[in-house]
Amino acid sequence: MKFIFIFCLVVSSVFSSPPEEFDKDQYLVGEQIFDNKCSSCHVKSMDIGLLMNNFIEHDNKVLNLLAPTGNEISFRLKSQIGSKDDVEFQIEEVTDFVKDYLINPDKAKTVCLEGVIKHFDTMPTMKGKVTEQEMEDVTFFLYFLEGWNGINKYYEKDEF
Ligand code: HEC
Repeated sequence: MKFIFIFCLVVSSVFSSPPEEFDKDQYLVGEQIFDNKCSSCHVKSMDIGLLMNNFIEHDNKVLNLLAPTGNEISFRLKSQIGSKDDVEFQIEEVTDFVKDYLINPDKAKTVCLEGVIKHFDTMPTMKGKVTEQEMEDVTFFLYFLEGWNGINKYYEKDEF
């Protein structure tokens, strides 16, 4: 009984705490940049089931999205680049990718699923429209947006 209790405690702490690299302030700054400079094309977050239905079954005719959503990109960046086992290094690698993509977009480099990306033309370059710092902050936001067992519930909490 005691063992089960301790086991549950350990499991819940693993799944409920964000990685130590998560920095709420930087996340919120990045989100603001996303809202200002990316959200005219990228919806921030939508249910993955709904997205797959739209793209794979209905040729994007249900949602008529202009670009992959933030949470899709977030998920793909983490699964396609480096390894989540080393979060600090993966953030660096993902940041390098996004910075390069924002300046020199080219669908040949895509991390997105073929069934999703085929619906879009290559993204226009953001050269001159975002600073180095903004690119780093917005990537930080994208990195943590999806896939950390609902990290959003942490950033809603004031005490974190
Ligand atoms: C004018 C519309 C537009 C704006 C503004 C825009 N994007 Fe995009 N973005 C797209 C489209 C369309 C795609 C899908 C085609 C592609 O990947 O090139 C895309 C793809 C991406 C990808 C995935 C690249 C890949 O294929 O692997 C990333 C990352 C991305 N955008 C980040 C951003 C960020 C960050 C911003 C804001 C700083 C931004 N975008 C602003 C249209 C836009």
